[in-house]
Formats: sequence, structure tokens, C-alpha cells
Amino acid sequence: MTNENAETQRTILRRAGGNDGLAFRSCFGSFATGVSVASCMAGEEAGTAITINSLTSVSLDPPLALFCLESNSGTMASFLRAGHFALNILADDQQAISNRYARDHNLVPGDFGDPWESGAPVLNGALAVADCVLHDVHGGGDHRILVGRVVETGWREGSGPLLYYRGNYGSIGDSAS
Ligand SMILES: Cc1cc2nc3c(=O)[nH]c(=O)nc-3n(C[C@H](O)[C@H](O)[C@H](O)COP(=O)(O)O)c2cc1C
Repeated sequence: MTNENAETQRTILRRAGGNDGLAFRSCFGSFATGVSVASCMAGEEAGTAITINSLTSVSLDPPLALFCLESNSGTMASFLRAGHFALNILADDQQAISNRYARDHNLVPGDFGDPWESGAPVLNGALAVADCVLHDVHGGGDHRILVGRVVETGWREGSGPLLYYRGNYGSIGDSAS
């Protein structure tokens, strides 16, 4: 590749139609996010958890937050039945937790502590937690948008967040805390 071509690749946006799935992922994968694990406990079940990065705070009054869950996720029924979820925001030493709950959605004993107000299990070592009662569910293409009313929050100092960018994990240390 000539120097001129390499320079062009760096500076010119590659454009694609909205239906190009790879381009869609490359575009939105450029939006660096934190990583969370959404958890719930429906009735007598042992508990369910899934890694997500679609967490967004929505409203302060009333306090609302949402995440987007693939409609055919095996976890969907549990979240709807439970009527609550905790959004556990991961610290930068919790990459293994992120990988675990992206693969397997049954709670591993010892990963989670006692439920807070909503009844959702809360992740040990999380950087922050938003405990929510399920408030609304909206359609969103091949995902559903689960909106929660935040009933309790928690956060701690001393660690930085786990980050996700273009399919890779990263961290910023604890300089921002
Ligand atoms: C960093 C990261 C973020 C993710 N964010 C979401 C998300 O916001 N919503 C979602 O449905 N799945 C998300 N996933 C994928 C799920 O964790 C899970 O792997 C996928 O839904 C397949 O699980 P299932 O078919 O067993 O439900 C994410 C995975 C990773 C590693």
C-alpha cells in the first residue's frame, strides 16, 4: 500500500448502507462503553445473569434506566418473569466475569451477594450497581428494550471501569475515581 493510500484509509470514513451488518457493528463498536452484567432472580430459580453494554440512564425524575436484550436470548423469560433487574457495572479487574456471563447465564455461587431492594442478586466487586424494578418493555427490532425504575444505587471508589471498544476490553485505571 502506498503512503498516500494508507493516509486515505486513516482519514476518510468508510461509508456503507444501514443494512450492512459488519459496517453497523464497526460503526457502533467505535462507541466505547463500559460493561455491565444484568442479573435477576425469578421465583425459586438460582438466578440469571447476562453481559451487556447497552445500558443507558434514561430519566432522573422518575429515575429510569434501560438495557437492550436480544429477543431470542434464553434469559429473556427470566427477566420478564422476575420483574426486576440489577445493572452491575464492572470494574477493570472483572473481565473474566464479563466473559463468563456472555457465555453462561446461570449464576456461579460466590459471584453474587444478597439481593437489594428489588430482589435482584448483586454482583460482588462491582464498581457500581443500579437496582431496578421492571417498568416497561418496548420492541426494538431483534432486541427488546427493558426499562427499569431505579430503586437503589451503589458505587465505590478505588477501581476504574472495564471498557469495551471495537470488540476489545480496555481500562483507564482509577484516575477518574
Ligand atoms: C461486552 C459485551 C456486551 C454485550 N452486550 C449485549 C447487550 O447489550 N445485549 C445483548 O442482548 N447481548 C449482549 N451481549 C451478548 C450477550 O452477553 C450474550 O453473549 C448473547 O446474548 C448470547 O447469549 P444467549 O444466546 O445465551 O442469550 C454482549 C456481550 C459482550 C461480551
